[in-house]
Amino acid sequence: MLELKHIKKSYDNVTILEDINLQIQDGEIVSILGPSGCGKTTLLNLVLGLTPADSGQIIFNGKDITKVPMEERGFNIVFQDYALFPNLNVYKNITYGLKNKPGISTKEEVDEFIELLGLKEHLNKKIEQLSGGQKQRVALARTMVMKPKILLLDEPLSALDGVIKESIKEKIKEIARDFHLTTIIVTHDPEEALTLSDKVLIVNKGSISQYGAPQEIITAPENNFVKEFILNQLEIKKNNIFALFHQSMARTVQAGARL
Ligand SMILES: Nc1ncnc2c1ncn2[C@@H]1O[C@H](COP(=O)(O)OP(=O)(O)OP(=O)(O)O)[C@@H](O)[C@H]1O
Ligand SMILES: [Mg+2]
Repeated sequence: MLELKHIKKSYDNVTILEDINLQIQDGEIVSILGPSGCGKTTLLNLVLGLTPADSGQIIFNGKDITKVPMEERGFNIVFQDYALFPNLNVYKNITYGLKNKPGISTKEEVDEFIELLGLKEHLNKKIEQLSGGQKQRVALARTMVMKPKILLLDEPLSALDGVIKESIKEKIKEIARDFHLTTIIVTHDPEEALTLSDKVLIVNKGSISQYGAPQEIITAPENNFVKEFILNQLEIKKNNIFALFHQSMARTVQAGARL
C-alpha cells in the first residue's frame, strides 16, 4: 500500500499542494483528475521522488520512503512528452533501462510486452518515424519492462485519437491486472478518469476535492467543484451524444415513414 500523509509542497512561498492524505492499495488503478495547474504533476513527482515534499510522509508497504532517493524507490514514470531517445530505434528504446539492470525482464517477457502493445512491426524504426500513438506505446513498453513497483503515467492519453485512446486504455487495464501493478494516472479528462480507474482522486487548487470509486463520485459528489467541474462536463458530453443519435434516429424514422 502507498500512503501519503499530510503532504505539503510550495514553490516560492506559493502553496501548490496542501495537506494531501490518501491511500492507494496494491494493484489499484488511480486517476488524478483536476484542472490545469492544480498540482497533478507535482503530486506524481513527489511519489516518484523527483520532487521533495516540504512536510508530510510517504509510506510504501509500511516503510517511510519520504527521504528515499528516486532510484531506490523502484517506481517508474511515463512522462507527458514521452522523453524517448531519438538516436535509438524502437527496440533499443524499449530495452534501454535493462542495460543497467539486466535480468529484470527476460527476453521472452520483453517480447510479450512488445506483442501486447502491438509494436512488433515497428522495432527497427527510428522514433521520428512513429506516430504519436506508437511513441506513446514505446514509452509504456520501456517503462513496463523495468517492472516498476508503481507505474506513474502523466497524461498518457491526451495526445491520442479516440480509437487508439480506447485501445491503450484497455492495455493499461490489462497490464495493471495481469501484473498486479499499482498504477497512478494523471488526466484532466473526467471520462477517461472515471472509465479507466478503480479510484479517482479529484484535485482542486492543491487540495483533495474528493477521492473515491467512479460510482461514488457520480452518485454522491461531495461538493460543488465535483458537481460543476466534473459532472457537468460529463452531462454536456452525454447530452451532445444523445442529441446526435436522437437526430439520426429521427431521420431514419422519417425516411421509413416516407417509404
Ligand atoms: N519547479 C517549479 N517551480 C515553480 N513553480 C512550479 C514548479 N513546478 C510547478 N510549479 C507550479 O505549480 C503549480 C502546479 O503545477 P503542476 O505541474 O503540478 O500542475 P498540473 O496540475 O500538472 O497542470 P497541467 O494539467 O497543466 O499539467 C503551477 O502553478 C506551476 O506553475
Ligand atoms: Mg501536469
